[in-house]
Amino acid sequence: MNIPIILRPAAEEAVAQMIAISLADGSTTRWTAQQWVDIFDPQSPPRLVLVAQEAALSPTVHGFLVALCGPARGEAADFELENIAVHPSMRRQGIGRSLISALLDHARLVRAGRILLEVRESNVAAIRLYQSCGFTVLGNRREYYSNPIENALVMVHVL
Ligand SMILES: CC(C)(COP(=O)(O)OP(=O)(O)OC[C@H]1O[C@@H](n2cnc3c(N)ncnc32)[C@H](O)[C@@H]1OP(=O)(O)O)[C@@H](O)C(=O)NCCC(=O)NCCS
Repeated sequence: MNIPIILRPAAEEAVAQMIAISLADGSTTRWTAQQWVDIFDPQSPPRLVLVAQEAALSPTVHGFLVALCGPARGEAADFELENIAVHPSMRRQGIGRSLISALLDHARLVRAGRILLEVRESNVAAIRLYQSCGFTVLGNRREYYSNPIENALVMVHVL
């Protein structure tokens, strides 16, 4: 990594920068304004929201991750990775991998069972990232995505 980056739990104050990253290119998961509001709503299910920012005083956010903690399945809950993105100017510097590693650490800490996610079949960068972090393909969902229509791969990391 070229510049020192720290990861921290995010609150609503980081939403504007998270939205800016999510709008920076076409490959990122697009959320509605309501979805962004919902992730910090105390009535919503618990989530892990992390941002990667410069370790210097500048609070510039370069990447983020949002993971939903699902209801317990037997003894252990599953996490669902809902969104992850790194600003295009900061990619291939290990930020995505650091965010996933932090999610894995957190999920192990709270004794979750699995982490699940969906990804567009064409999203090679994300698929490689997930594979390099120990995710494997569980199945697929036909025409899961719209604009453009595309199948999703379902990937899982069993903890
Ligand atoms: C996917 C994404 C988060 C990766 O973030 P990143 O910070 O660039 O990833 P890292 O630098 O940590 O890369 C880790 C590994 O992932 C793989 N990888 C990342 N980008 C890749 C690319 N463009 N092509 C191939 N492999 C890639 C590599 O194995 C890489 O390891 P290496 O650099 O040692 O070869 C980023 O490309 C992104 O924001 N994409 C748009 C949003 C998106 O697609 N989110 C996923 C929705 S499901």
